[in-house]
Amino acid sequence: MEILGIDIGGSGIKGAPVNIITGELMAERYRIPTPQPSVPTAIAEVVAKLVTHFNWQGPIGCAFPAVIKQGVVYTAANIDSAWLGINGAKLIEETTGCPTTLLNDADAAGIAEMTFGAGKKHSGMVIIHTFGTGIGSAIFINRQLVPNTEFGHMDIRGKEAEHRASDGVRSQKDLSWKQWAKRVNEFLERMEALFWPDLFIIGGGVSKKHEKFLPLLQTLTPIVPAHLLNQAGIIGAALAAANGLKVAGEIKPDNLLDLES
Ligand code: BGC
Repeated sequence: MEILGIDIGGSGIKGAPVNIITGELMAERYRIPTPQPSVPTAIAEVVAKLVTHFNWQGPIGCAFPAVIKQGVVYTAANIDSAWLGINGAKLIEETTGCPTTLLNDADAAGIAEMTFGAGKKHSGMVIIHTFGTGIGSAIFINRQLVPNTEFGHMDIRGKEAEHRASDGVRSQKDLSWKQWAKRVNEFLERMEALFWPDLFIIGGGVSKKHEKFLPLLQTLTPIVPAHLLNQAGIIGAALAAANGLKVAGEIKPDNLLDLES
């Protein structure tokens, strides 16, 4: 079975049809730059262009950089504030004609990693962080997602964690890997002190350069790079849609486990 997975980000909107049994992309990923301003109608039109590009009919899953409950967007840290209160799932559905599942991007990446990637064989408490323009978080307890966690906004010495330690900050401030790793470490140590996880997975685009910074991190918790790199959001969004989800909070771990067998 194939579902069109779409990852809506601050700089690009990417998609591909996904085989939800194997997690493979069934066509080359297609990317369109995120329109600026990133207002709802402009983004929905780009999603419609992706749907046309793949000549797609049928359900789509969309990962989005915000808290999403029952299709409604509740936060807008790295996306236009016009999204606040909008039923994004409904808007995309009306614009594309495709039944749409909308969920948080880090939750989508987490679902993909737990199903096909670095978390595949792990239970207990697994925390996935995506480092990109912001810092996304997804927590799984015995493989069950706790949706919409927003630890990238945790206060660290008077500043939001993602304003200190996102990959965006690393490049804007031209930080060395050592300088950036120190900031990431401070964030992860705080997470560790609060949650005592069994595994950290580090995702987002920067995870492909993990050999530059993972050895510099000093957490007690085992820490591994994500396996699915910049495809995780696409794959996870497709999986969420395949599970018949209309609501991110309804993600069922049993379904994820079924997909593995
Ligand atoms: C948003 C999260 C998102 C993360 C990564 C944060 O600024 O608040 O919802 O998961 O960025 O895109």
